[in-house]
Amino acid sequence: MLFEQIPVGGDRNLAYIIADEKSKEAAIVDPSFSPEKVLARANELKLKIKFLINTHSHFDHINGNECILTNSKATLAHAKPAENALLLQDGSELKLGELVLKIIATPGHTQDSICILVENKLITGDTLFIGDVGLTRSIENARLEFASLKKILLLKDATEIYPAHDYGSVPFATLAHEKLHNSCIIDVLKNDFQSFLRDK
Ligand SMILES: [Fe+2]
Repeated sequence: MLFEQIPVGGDRNLAYIIADEKSKEAAIVDPSFSPEKVLARANELKLKIKFLINTHSHFDHINGNECILTNSKATLAHAKPAENALLLQDGSELKLGELVLKIIATPGHTQDSICILVENKLITGDTLFIGDVGLTRSIENARLEFASLKKILLLKDATEIYPAHDYGSVPFATLAHEKLHNSCIIDVLKNDFQSFLRDK
């Protein structure tokens, strides 16, 4: 697998390129503020861009879509019903050659937030950051996010967390690291929603 994390400006936004090395089929995730940079890298690697995936529909994640869609044959894929887009749901799978991307629905930060699991790497969008979790605007959404994070905690400790913003002390870390150092994740582990609300 080829997997690259690319800083794309904005609010320390991070985009991703995932590709199957044999078939060269690739997906781009949240190119946001620098789609040209992400596209140039994909072209440099001679990749065939099959999917453009958004982790959720906030402006600072979808604002680079148009550039990718007009300059490649990518199909847009996300969890918000839309014309000409592939609707992703919990359990959806996208194939890049032999590589399988598994979609985990993680509502909370937004209703259409998803995480993307590929091998031991989890792209978490704005659901989980290194050392923090995504903003929620109501108790109901915080509860949804709490439940979504519980789902993420079922993954292996060695799973590497790749967020959509570089807000942490490092740009990515293992789930084991977050279980030790992310106070919100520690609250989820303890099933302590009130502390979770305080620590967010
Ligand atoms: Fe967001």
